[in-house]
Amino acid sequence: MPARVIDGKSFAADLRQQIAKNVVELKTEHGITPGLAVVLVGDDPASQVYVRNKGAQTVEAGMMSFEHRLPADTTQDQLMTLIGQLNADPGVHGILVQLPLPRHLDADLVINAIEPIKDVDGFTVQNVGRLATGQTSLVACTPLGCLMLLRHQLGDLSGLHAVIVGRSNIVGKPMAQLLLSDNATVTIAHSRTKNLRDVCGGADILVAAVGRPRMIPGDWIKPGATVIDVGINRVSDGAKSRLVGDVDFDTAIEVAGAITPVPGGVGPMTIACLLANTLVACRRANGLPDAAP
Ligand code: GUN
Repeated sequence: MPARVIDGKSFAADLRQQIAKNVVELKTEHGITPGLAVVLVGDDPASQVYVRNKGAQTVEAGMMSFEHRLPADTTQDQLMTLIGQLNADPGVHGILVQLPLPRHLDADLVINAIEPIKDVDGFTVQNVGRLATGQTSLVACTPLGCLMLLRHQLGDLSGLHAVIVGRSNIVGKPMAQLLLSDNATVTIAHSRTKNLRDVCGGADILVAAVGRPRMIPGDWIKPGATVIDVGINRVSDGAKSRLVGDVDFDTAIEVAGAITPVPGGVGPMTIACLLANTLVACRRANGLPDAAP
């Protein structure tokens, strides 16, 4: 029997709807409107698309969207000054600096200048450290979205063997921390891992986040495993191009128990989780408990 296809698009739409309801409640009961500031430096075409989508979905959820588009030759000082202003602005509850930044800028310095309570990407060392030590934090959006899909699909993750292929700060490492907190047994594999095929074959949960098109074929996957494909790779397909994941979907679907498609799987969850984090950041800034959105 082919795998169940996990519909991240519809899950994300439901999540955004719940967030929008919560935003209405915040406005009517407390007179507060959450605000998200997104900073884009330079003119990377993919980043421009992401930022446009983030802005549109922020407004759709009833939040304020503040977009700051800066030229590619923006200096470190100019960018740090902007972050300082956004930190001080009470109408801004979340700050996101779109990555990658142009090479002359120090991304670590910029990210860590963001007030941790406004760090809706969960990238500051404060939030990364808090996640790793089991303290309340803001969690990186893509792994958070993956965790929601996994819990929805599997319920309790206790004792399951999760293999994450990819060790990035944005996905692989925080994904490992989240799965550990949910009592999974976690292996982080990467491009230098020996016998990657066998490591993948032991996974009840396989999270692929390497950025290599269709790198993981179906015969690497344990029958019945849940496969979360974080990859978004553009490949040419005759005269056109299309998006594929890090997993070879056509062969994997014959083996896995459940699998996320690309597009329409993890991708839509990332922005929905960004909105969820903005709502949480806004509630915390106003001394309100985290509402389960
Ligand atoms: N670039 C690619 N993914 C992300 C992300 O999750 N957050 C930010 N800020 N930039 C990105």
